[in-house]
Amino acid sequence: MSDATAPSRCPVAHAAGAAAAAPLGASAPLGASAPPGASGRQLLARLHEARVYLSSQPVLWLLASATRRLGAAQRIPGVGVVVSDAGLARAILQRDEDFPKCGRGGFAEQITRVLGPNALGNMDGASHRAVRARLAAVFTPAHAAALTRDVCAAPIAELRAQLAAGRTVDLVTFTRRLTGRTMCRIVGLTPPPDREDGTHEELAMLAERLSTIIHLQSASDQELRSIEAARTRLFDHLRECCDTSDGSGLPGSVVNRLRALGLTLDEARGALTILLVAGTVSMTAAFPRIAALLIDTGQLGDLHRHPELVARAIAEGLRFVAPVPATMRIAARDTTVGGMRVTAGTRMLILTMNVARDPCLFPRPNRFDASRVHDPAARQPWYGAGPHFCLGFALAQCQLAAALTVLAEARGKVRIVRRRPARHVLLPGYACLAVRVGAGAP
Ligand code: HEM
Repeated sequence: MSDATAPSRCPVAHAAGAAAAAPLGASAPLGASAPPGASGRQLLARLHEARVYLSSQPVLWLLASATRRLGAAQRIPGVGVVVSDAGLARAILQRDEDFPKCGRGGFAEQITRVLGPNALGNMDGASHRAVRARLAAVFTPAHAAALTRDVCAAPIAELRAQLAAGRTVDLVTFTRRLTGRTMCRIVGLTPPPDREDGTHEELAMLAERLSTIIHLQSASDQELRSIEAARTRLFDHLRECCDTSDGSGLPGSVVNRLRALGLTLDEARGALTILLVAGTVSMTAAFPRIAALLIDTGQLGDLHRHPELVARAIAEGLRFVAPVPATMRIAARDTTVGGMRVTAGTRMLILTMNVARDPCLFPRPNRFDASRVHDPAARQPWYGAGPHFCLGFALAQCQLAAALTVLAEARGKVRIVRRRPARHVLLPGYACLAVRVGAGAP
């Protein structure tokens, strides 16, 4: 076994679990500079986060809480091997020949059932590399920055204006429109000008529905019917876009790139749909939760005074919420990982939500500290690792920064006036997070 497959050798590590799995409210006290009441606010923020999880993924939340105490990797009957250690998780994700996405009982099988082949998240090896290579130019940091500047300018300006006017803004709706709009541009969809916001929002909601196919248990017939209805509607949108543009799509759009690879629209629509899903669902889960954490813990005001800390706040927000809480691989052969023997066909459930609280990489992991300086060695595990590392990484970073900067720059105190955790969703998040700027220092 190479070093790369070893779990983190952290002395606190999984007694670390103790710290990581400490009951709410049992975290270490805040630093000397923390204002009075700060630890109470941390506790409140964590209670809200727990509610968000329990509303949509209670089983996953309980599984993560229980296994975090137990060690780097555990065999759980009916689930497979559950991995909580950052080093071990990374090694598995990088050894894609031993631990591919595809295999019996994996998430890839569920994706294929609804989207067909070519959906990236259900591909391995050479075919996966070919599609990623075709799409790489669309997801460079430079293109992500240009897209955010051009495509996101209008919704960002609207958010700024609404907050300045003292209006209540639902950050979930805002994020759906922002990401729906961006993904339409990327994929090559042009909604009618009089139905832009509605179409962007609808696409994001269809994507949310479709994403629920990914689950530890198989979907019931009723759930499958509802998911298939969402898929049909999404495919209609895709076909419409290709029809209205005479099949040429926007120049440089993903539609054209996939066609250049020799895929027909039918063959390409799995990839198009997964892009829509991945690009909207993760962001709609992430941004409102990060905003809520900053407001609940009183740290949004710090960002107002130190806007240069936005990037750190995003990294810490993503660590704390781990928007994609888990991913799965299937052992392709009998092998060993982290000293554990694994037989072919074993499901490896990587609990990113535990990995992101690995105390070796993130001391006092249950504390949300927007100014935390992350060790580069941690490599943002919430975006995955190995060949399936998040394709939209640069785009997500740009969009989160643009949206968070508006909140940080608001003149006045941003308050949460209403919140409701989402139910029946893949990624834990809010169904509504309404905020308003009121009197008081930011
Ligand atoms: C905060 C935002 C985001 C987070 C936390 C996130 C997280 C992740 C993670 C953990 C994976 C790897 C899953 C695995 O290994 O099984 C992934 C894959 C992916 N992400 Fe993201 N993502 C985000 C935003 C986006 C955006 C904006 C896009 C835009 C298109 C995107 C597109 C994708 C795609 C296409 C994949 C599949 C890559 C492949 O299988 O080769 N993501 N993401």
